[in-house]
Amino acid sequence: MNVVLLPGDGVGPEVMAEARKALDALELGIAWTDVPWGSAWWAEHGTMMPADAIDVLRGHDAILMGAVGDPAVPDDEALWGLILKIRQELDLWVNVRPARLLEGIPGPLAGRAPHDVDMVFVRENSEGEYAGVGGRVHRGFGHDVAIESSVFTRRGCERVIRYAFGMASARKGVLVNATKSNASRFGFPFWDEIVAEVGAEFPGVVVDRMLVDALSARLIRDPGSVDVVVASNLFGDILTDIAAALQGGMGMAASANLSPGGGVPALFEPVHGSAPDIAGRGIANPVGAIWSAALMLEQLGAGEGSRRLMDALETVCRRGPRTRDVGGTATTAEVGDAVVAALAAQPLPAEDAGA
Ligand code: NAD
Ligand code: IPM
Ligand code: MN
Repeated sequence: MNVVLLPGDGVGPEVMAEARKALDALELGIAWTDVPWGSAWWAEHGTMMPADAIDVLRGHDAILMGAVGDPAVPDDEALWGLILKIRQELDLWVNVRPARLLEGIPGPLAGRAPHDVDMVFVRENSEGEYAGVGGRVHRGFGHDVAIESSVFTRRGCERVIRYAFGMASARKGVLVNATKSNASRFGFPFWDEIVAEVGAEFPGVVVDRMLVDALSARLIRDPGSVDVVVASNLFGDILTDIAAALQGGMGMAASANLSPGGGVPALFEPVHGSAPDIAGRGIANPVGAIWSAALMLEQLGAGEGSRRLMDALETVCRRGPRTRDVGGTATTAEVGDAVVAALAAQPLPAEDAGA
């Protein structure tokens, strides 16, 4: 397994160090390629990553990324120069974001137990509101105008919607379709049409059509009623920060950027950003990053390693230590060390026992 480690900015390197530590402890023979891309690279070279970056990534099996974004770099330049560029150039068209409240982690909702928060968001990841199509118009309107167009292609919608139906049929058979088809004139009505078409291939899945504003309220009022959600790029982004909060905080949430069948490396990253407000203090929560590493192992075919890592992570969440954002006092490294210790304490697989 040849993996690119892209720690990035802010707390990115802090949480990635713990993800790497946990993966190395599994002794799966991962060969790492460290890339120093991000805002420090920008300060030196004027770009977020080198010109051949996408080719470098293509030569690997997976990418594990921290976060990017730095107060010294214009944010759109930082994001369009790195994470959004990678997603688009590698055509990582689906962003899978599981959201589970793990035992031992305090959730924000009174009276909700871990089993009340267990969902998967299937986010469109290549187009929609993030198409980057538009411009500033300085003439003709009598005043400045900025235009930003969403782009919904049949191909782009169909593939992510079909993926989400597959996910729903493998889980509870209900797919929440999050749109804003009441205010949108073209994009979401088109999306809904494709949901209906693709849905015909999945007679066992019920579609629960929700406007995204009402769904946002439902996630807080009744998270247990939501299982699989399919959403456009921007709505998926916003809904998964709500979901991260339901999991106990931004530091808890993991994601997989995939191009199923695409023959390109997938990218795994925590949902959170570079968190400049807490960076450099060693207190960032590494759980989302380590969880993302487990998603990576699963995708690379190392299912047993993935299960072991998740098991160790869940043990640590249950027993502690925990970082302060989830009610503890531990440092980032103490949580990572505890995950390594929990891995070491796991019983040997049956076939090795007594050997
Ligand atoms: P953020 O996710 O970085 O931070 C939001 C809040 O969550 C902050 O209070 C932060 O301290 C907290 N938080 C985040 N990660 C945490 C962790 N691991 N442990 C504990 N607390 C954590 O979002 P933001 O402040 O809106 O963005 C900061 C920068 O990150 C911006 O430049 C933004 O564009 C960028 N960003 C990058 C990514 C990415 O690279 N994938 C994702 C989101 C935001
Ligand atoms: C995320 C982030 C990114 C997004 C930013 C950094 C462009 O918020 O992965 O959720 O909006 O997709
Ligand atoms: Mn986001």
